[in-house]
Amino acid sequence: MKTKAAVLWGLNQKWEIEEVELDGPKEREVLVKLVASGLCHSDDHLVTGDMPMQLPAVGGHEGAGVVVEVGPGVGEIEVGDHVVLSFIPACGRCRECARGMSNLCELGAAIVLGPQLDGTHRFHARGQGLGQMCVLGTFSEYTVVPAASVVKVDKDIPLDKAALVGCGVTTGYGAAVRTGETQDGDTVVVMGVGGLGMNAVQGARIAGARHIVALDPVAYKRELATEFGATHAAADVEEAQAIVTDLTRGRMADVCVVTTDNAEGVHVGQGLSLVGKRGRVVMTAIPHPTDTSVDMSLFDLTLYEKQVRGCLFGSSNPRHDIFRMLDLYQSGLLKLDELVTRQYTLDDVNQGYEDLKDGRNLRGLIRF
Ligand SMILES: NC(=O)c1ccc[n+]([C@@H]2O[C@H](COP(=O)([O-])OP(=O)(O)OC[C@H]3O[C@@H](n4cnc5c(N)ncnc54)[C@H](O)[C@@H]3O)[C@@H](O)[C@H]2O)c1
Ligand SMILES: [Zn+2]
Ligand SMILES: [Zn+2]
Repeated sequence: MKTKAAVLWGLNQKWEIEEVELDGPKEREVLVKLVASGLCHSDDHLVTGDMPMQLPAVGGHEGAGVVVEVGPGVGEIEVGDHVVLSFIPACGRCRECARGMSNLCELGAAIVLGPQLDGTHRFHARGQGLGQMCVLGTFSEYTVVPAASVVKVDKDIPLDKAALVGCGVTTGYGAAVRTGETQDGDTVVVMGVGGLGMNAVQGARIAGARHIVALDPVAYKRELATEFGATHAAADVEEAQAIVTDLTRGRMADVCVVTTDNAEGVHVGQGLSLVGKRGRVVMTAIPHPTDTSVDMSLFDLTLYEKQVRGCLFGSSNPRHDIFRMLDLYQSGLLKLDELVTRQYTLDDVNQGYEDLKDGRNLRGLIRF
C-alpha cells in the first residue's frame, strides 16, 4: 500500500514528507492506522546524529492508533483494537522481561538499527528500504510494527492523549517514581521541564513529594510547571541550589531527574550538587554516544553514598505502566490534555521541531 510519511534522508536535513510504499505485516507484526504522534526530542537527535541510526528512516516513536491488519502468529491483537505503541518492544519471554525489566527487553537492541526485527524493511521509497525509528515510525499515516511493541487499550481512552504515554509520559513519570524511587515527603529537582520533565514533576507529585523544584532556563516552562505540581522554580543551577538548601535546611534533595534536551557530562555533577546523602541523580536525557567525559565529585559518591542512575523508559514495564498512566489520567491525577501545546498536520513536522527548539512547545502533537 501507499502511505504518507516523514522521512529523514541524511544528517542535519529536514524531514521530507512524501508518499512511500508500505509492505503488509509479516509474522508477529501488525498494521496500524495512526491517530496521533507526539514530537519527542529524541527524533531530533536522529537529525543531529546524537542518536545514531541507519538513514534513511521514517521518524516518530510516540504514537497510538487502530489496528487494521494482523500478520501470521498474532493471536492477542485483533483488527479494530485501539493500541498505544511502546517505544521499546517487550517480548515477555527474555530474561529481562521475566525479571520485570521489560524496558531492557532483548528486542530493544533493534530500536536504533532501522529495519524491522527480522532485519528487512517494511517502508520503501526512491528504490531503497527505509528504517523505522524505534521499529515504529509513527510519523506516517500507517505503519507496520512488531506485536511486541503494541499495547491494547480500552476504546474509551482518547488515542490522541494516549499517544504521549508511548514515550514521554511514562519515561518522565518513571524517572522520578521508578528509577529515582521518589518517596512521600521527598524533595525532588527536575532539571529540564519539557515533554519528559513535566511528567517527572507529575510523578513526583503523585508519589507524595513535598517539594518539587522545576529547573529550566525557559520562563514559560517554569510557569507551566507549577500547574503540573512544581512547588518552586529555578532558572539555573545556582538558584536551584539556594532554593533546595533553604527548603531542606542544607540536607539537599532526595532525587534530581535530568531531562534536559541533551545530556552533558556537566549535568551529572550539577545533579550531584543538588542531592544530599544517598540522593539519586537520574540521567534520562540522551547524550551523544561518543561523549565519555563526566564531571563529578567521586568524594560525594563515596562519602555521601550519592548515586547516579541511568534511566530508559522510566525503568517501566510497558505492559503494566502504560495502563497505569492511563488509569491515573482517567482518575484525574495525571494531566495529559494540558501537555499538548500545539497540534500539527504531518506536513508541518519541521515547524513542530522549530517550535520545540524555540521553547514554544511543551509537547507538539501530529494529528492524522
Ligand atoms: N531515557 C529515555 O528513555 C528517553 C526517552 C525519551 C526521550 N529521552 C530524552 O530526554 C530528553 C528530553 O526530551 P524532551 O522530549 O522532554 O525534550 P524537550 O525539548 O521537550 O525538553 C527539554 C527541556 O530541557 C530544558 N533545558 C535545556 N538545557 C537545560 C539546562 N542546562 N538546565 C535545565 N533545563 C534545560 C529545555 O528548556 C527544555 O524545556 C531528550 O534528550 C530526549 O532524547 C530519553
Ligand atoms: Zn521519546
Ligand atoms: Zn523481552
